[in-house]
This record gives sequence, C-alpha cells and structure tokens, in this order.
Amino acid sequence: MLKETITKDRTTRRWEDYVVPQRWESFTSEDHSVWDLLFARQVELLGTRVVSPFLDGIDLLRLSHPGVPDVEGLNAILEPRTGWRTVAVPGLVPDDIFFAMLSERVFPVGNFIRTREQLDYLEAPDCFHDMFGHIPMLAHHDYAEMTRHVGELGVAAIAAEQGHKAARLYWHSVEFGLAKEQGELKILGAGLASSFGEAHFSLESDEVERLPFSVEKAVNTPYKHDGFQPRYLLSRSLERTIDEVLALTAERLLAL
Ligand SMILES: [Fe+2]
Repeated sequence: MLKETITKDRTTRRWEDYVVPQRWESFTSEDHSVWDLLFARQVELLGTRVVSPFLDGIDLLRLSHPGVPDVEGLNAILEPRTGWRTVAVPGLVPDDIFFAMLSERVFPVGNFIRTREQLDYLEAPDCFHDMFGHIPMLAHHDYAEMTRHVGELGVAAIAAEQGHKAARLYWHSVEFGLAKEQGELKILGAGLASSFGEAHFSLESDEVERLPFSVEKAVNTPYKHDGFQPRYLLSRSLERTIDEVLALTAERLLAL
C-alpha cells in the first residue's frame, strides 16, 4: 500500500513544483559578505588543485563578481552556452526530482547561504556549494552533457527502484570525483571543490583510499553523506570520466 502511494506520488509530482523565486534582493549585506569570504578563501585554497575547466567556468560565469550571484545573471551566460540553467530551491530536493531536473538541464541551487558561524559546517547544501561547486563545470560542453545523461540514468534507475546505483555514480563523479590532469591529481567533484576541509584532504591525506574510477566501481562503491569520504575514485582524466559515463546505458546501469 505504502509502496503504491510512493509510486503514485513520484509519477504525479513535477520538478517545477519545487522551484521557488531566488529573491536575490532579500540577501542581506552580511549574506553577500559571507559569499565574498567563502569565495576568496576557496579560490586561494584550490589554486590549481582543481581540473582546469572548473577555473575556466569561474571566469566565464563571472563568479568572482562580488556578492551572491543572481540566477538570472548566471543563466544569461550559461544557457546560451550549454543549454543549462539554474533554478532556486528552498533546500535539498528528493532524488527523483533532482535527477529529473538534471535530465532537463536544470540545476537546483539553494536560495540561502550559510551564516558566518557555519562557514565550515553545513547540514544542507547552500548556494555557495551549489553555485561555486557545481555551476562552473556546467559551462564545459561535454561535462554538461555528461551531467544531463546522469540525470536521465537517475530517472530510469529510480523508476526501476534501483536509484542507489545512479546516486553512487553521481556521487563518485559529479560530487566527490578526482581526476588526473597532465599527470597531476586534481579535484573534479563539486563537493570537494566547494569544501574548505575536504579539498586538501582528498588530494593529500594518507588515510584515504584513491581507487581507479570506472562506472562499475562507482556503482558498487557505497559513500558517506555525513563527513569526509573514506575513499575517492580517481579517474585517468576528466575526458575519460565523461566518455565512460556517456557510454553507460540505463540497461547496463541496472545490470551492474
Ligand atoms: Fe552537490
């Protein structure tokens, strides 16, 4: 009975129902200062420890402009480039809604920012994580297409009641992936790129495993959603991750 209700909910609810106005004008000067502080220290911390398209995306999208970005300003640059756009949401959205958004080239960003007291600890992703961590890579054509494909795989996996497979694939690539770039270890995932503590930890700690990335490995590797990861998947290159994920069909994902 419960299962039937959930299935019905999933088929009737629409991702559009989760979208709220960003109300950029309601961000306070303190909110904008928090963004500026987070932005400045993260850019300094990352240096070149992140794949280069991420840094290109920061420039292209003018994310260094002071203050919390407004979604319309971001979309004016992003949408003509890769077809992606951002929408504001009040917090985490359910997995089926999230993957449905990705499948239509829509990225949800929180309509709030952490406080100065919470700089390093967040219960739910805020607009700094979402906009700084995720949006720069969506200006990269192939990566943007890979993310849309992950959304499509997620929709299919959830319909088959195997959503965890798509969630793991997403987690070990888009959120917490590492990749080599010209022989050097770099951050790929948004969760690492936007984290003050975990960015260096993921690259430099001796206490974690860094296992070779493959879609099979990603789908079969559990993750931790509350705390640093005990292991990261390291791809031979960003391009390799993109090619492997794009080649993955829903049928094969479900069989893994
Ligand atoms: Fe994220």
